[in-house]
Amino acid sequence: MIQYVGVNDHQVDLFEGQYHVKNGMSYNSYVILDEKIAIMDTVDIHFTEEWLKNIHNILEGRLPEYLVVLHMEPDHSASIQKLLEVYPDITVVGNVKTFPMIEQFFPGLKLDHKLAVKEGDILDLGTHKLKFVFAPMIHWPEVMLAYDMTTKSLFSADAFGKFGALDMEEDWKEEARRYYIGIVGKYGLPVQNLFKKVAGIEIQTIYPLHGPILKENLNYYLDLYNTWSSYKAEEDGVCIAYASIYGNTKKAVEELASKLTCKVELFDLARCDMAQAISKAFQYSKLVVASPTYNNGVFPPVEAFLHGLVERSYQNRVVGIIENGSWAPTAKKYIEQYFANSKNIMILEESVTIKSSLDEASKKQIEDLAYNLTNN
Ligand code: FEO
Repeated sequence: MIQYVGVNDHQVDLFEGQYHVKNGMSYNSYVILDEKIAIMDTVDIHFTEEWLKNIHNILEGRLPEYLVVLHMEPDHSASIQKLLEVYPDITVVGNVKTFPMIEQFFPGLKLDHKLAVKEGDILDLGTHKLKFVFAPMIHWPEVMLAYDMTTKSLFSADAFGKFGALDMEEDWKEEARRYYIGIVGKYGLPVQNLFKKVAGIEIQTIYPLHGPILKENLNYYLDLYNTWSSYKAEEDGVCIAYASIYGNTKKAVEELASKLTCKVELFDLARCDMAQAISKAFQYSKLVVASPTYNNGVFPPVEAFLHGLVERSYQNRVVGIIENGSWAPTAKKYIEQYFANSKNIMILEESVTIKSSLDEASKKQIEDLAYNLTNN
């Protein structure tokens, strides 16, 4: 029997030091009750006591045989030492990359019982049999998944997780996309490699380390992960990402949006959640970047946005550019430079150049940009 023993975090201000999580976060952990009992990962340091109590209640006096460490990032590993204090005979199950990280995070911690597994090894708990599937860089190098061959359950580590605590109602896709693109987005290739490894394995339930347990319509989630990790657009539409100092660039993007007939979302990069804007750029097939020229470059929030895209291997998109400048509008050149080494980015030749505020010439360029966005 697989039991949930995770916790909800409504205190976190920034998950992983940078992501706003308005609905909190869940740190999932599971206990597999069998002839031998396995605990699957631990939780964030702020919730150790609550988690230990959850385990205590489930165990009803029995002792766990194993702690399986699928991922060493502290949101899942921080309570290892405390668990070992409570259950000193537990065997820690990891791989050759897990144990050095345990030493790094817990200097001086002595592991009396440890079991290093290799790809494909099986941990036999009695009825449940966990087969280990290594998933390096999803999203750290030591990450492995565990497939319970008996229940056809996949313990998926960070994969298929999302932002948001489990006691909050919210759409899975929006916060799973923001989570995936933000945290795992750079590692599309390892995710694709994982898909190849698990192709042919029947999966009935996914037990992620964040977000809800997924039991129904699994193809929906698998298809989204396949789309995201292959850097394909989820849908046709335009993400317009802009910054505006005195409102003139904002007027230009609103003018553009009014001329587009497809789905459009606008993001004021100086004010919006940057992770949301970046994830939306990945959602849609087309992107428009609009920026004032600033210190002979682009406006700083636009620079942060572009950096966020490029470091996550943004590709396979059509990009339009709007630049503004009162004496030397050169933002376009800098935006193009950001994508210079990106794969399959088609920058529309028909860009818009505004000198301070919209005039007849720049309005005509916006019409042309709208036309080209629609027809490319
Ligand atoms: Fe949820 Fe990579 O940790």
